[in-house]
Amino acid sequence: MIPHLSERAIVFAPQGRDAVVARDMLKEAGLRAEIAHDMSELVAMLAAGAGFALITEEGLATANLQPLAQWIENQPNWSDFPFILLTRKGGGLERNPAASRYLSVLGNVTFLERPFHPTTLISLAQSALRGRRRQYEARTRLDELRELAAVLEQRVDERTAEHALAVAKLHEAQKLETLGQLTGGVAHDFNNLLTPIAGALDLLQRKYSDPNTRAARLIDNALQATDRATILVQRLLGFARRQSLQTRAIDLFDLLEGMRDLVASAIGPTVELRMHREPGALVALADPNQLELAVLNLCVNARDAMPDGGTLTIAADVATVGPGFAPKLSPGLYARLSVIDAGVGMDAETLARAVEPFYSTKETGRGTGLGLSMVHGLAAQLGGAFALTSAVGEGTRADLYLPLAEQAEAEAARPRRAALPATGAALSVLLVDDDEIVREATAEMIRDLGHVVLEANGGVEALGKLAGGLKVDAIVTDYKMPRLNGAELARRVRKLHPNLPVLVITGYTGTTEDISDLPRLAKPFHQADIAAALAELVEGDAKVVPLRARRTAAETD
Ligand SMILES: Nc1ncnc2c1ncn2[C@@H]1O[C@H](COP(=O)(O)OP(=O)(O)O)[C@@H](O)[C@H]1O
Ligand SMILES: [Mg+2]
Repeated sequence: MIPHLSERAIVFAPQGRDAVVARDMLKEAGLRAEIAHDMSELVAMLAAGAGFALITEEGLATANLQPLAQWIENQPNWSDFPFILLTRKGGGLERNPAASRYLSVLGNVTFLERPFHPTTLISLAQSALRGRRRQYEARTRLDELRELAAVLEQRVDERTAEHALAVAKLHEAQKLETLGQLTGGVAHDFNNLLTPIAGALDLLQRKYSDPNTRAARLIDNALQATDRATILVQRLLGFARRQSLQTRAIDLFDLLEGMRDLVASAIGPTVELRMHREPGALVALADPNQLELAVLNLCVNARDAMPDGGTLTIAADVATVGPGFAPKLSPGLYARLSVIDAGVGMDAETLARAVEPFYSTKETGRGTGLGLSMVHGLAAQLGGAFALTSAVGEGTRADLYLPLAEQAEAEAARPRRAALPATGAALSVLLVDDDEIVREATAEMIRDLGHVVLEANGGVEALGKLAGGLKVDAIVTDYKMPRLNGAELARRVRKLHPNLPVLVITGYTGTTEDISDLPRLAKPFHQADIAAALAELVEGDAKVVPLRARRTAAETD
């Protein structure tokens, strides 16, 4: 409908001068009026827009009403077009069957019998126009409502999409959580079993040291398999956030700088390595060894994503994390370590599943699917988060968010030089473990180093022996024991014998917070590891003089 036509009156009176007379009457009253000369013109004018129509009964009687009826029928739902029908003299509705037929065709019709007084016509015309204007208002309201409905619908759509995304995120987090618990339980048990296996193999290897014997080769194979199993189990524990971490404040720039050669050789000559280092230090709380492993995993993935070469960028900066960024991550400032490649990227499905353990798109033998799950678990266990951004053909960006550490903490926690394994001094060691097989294997390992080992079947028994006057140079204890665990034992020993060092062997601990200040050794370990740990224990801060040495000193005195 053309807007400026919407108020006009259309006059349809094909006989004589009726039309002109009627039009002039309307015009005189200040109304806009135009004449339709035949039925098809009338319908066309109605369609173009009009306020009401003034029609004579004769005009309808001679015409085909079909097109008009159809136009009336097809009006939009806000419209009920008003007609004024001029009837013949004596043609009142009751006595005029034709007129009542027109009523049913025209619908909204007012009858005016001729002759009439011009004022009557004008007042009818004005009221028809008023009615029509109300219809226009209704149309405007309807349009507004329709718009509102569209906006609402869009909002509902948006909200629904947001909700679906949140549910999917939650589902993903829950899935990872469940997988983590399952994996963690299995890995923990395997880890414990690996300790005596590795220990026994170490001892056997020493016994069958001639490399040409069949036994030596078998033992070597078994040791290699044990090492691989150890790595696998460590990664699973990492994903399950059950690693025993040695968290401390470290400068990420230093850590990355120290990894340069390692990364370069891992990614090969076709990939260009760019490291962004900002002035100053960026100190985060992390386990440096595990963090290096995580960075290496990310770099290997980047290399695999760029088979024809490309650029690998490693950067670290401080990033602001908003609410809801990752589960259990409080908003604030974090140290961010980013590994960015320009490789093949990931599609949505791969991106969504990439951190799941054992999810790999690489051919068998090339991928384990444990790289990103380890990185993810490490970030979460350290109190940070891990985020992947990627698109097919556009490369991948992996961001590790880590808690920032105060500079002072970094100074205090500067790694002490690892002591060299003890050269000769034999120590007497009290070994505490409630698991007999594990204890025996560990005892054998320590004895084989030339130390004297006394055993206790738990914390209570160990305390009893000390109370009974037992003198040793050091205590090596398992962490997880019934009644009195390794941490509690260490604390009691510290009170009673402040100079007696205690080494805690940790497999899995839900949290390692209660032993973060104690010397630790992670399971499974090899003989060299426990040799080094013992050496550090007695030559480190504790400054323990082996009993035997003390005795000798006393004798010479
Ligand atoms: N930088 C990357 N670019 C493209 N895809 C990647 C990248 N990193 C990881 N992915 C995808 O995520 C999967 C899982 O990675 P990961 O856990 O490290 O296991 P793996 O490398 O053993 O397959 C990979 O198989 C690969 O499909
Ligand atoms: Mg990988």
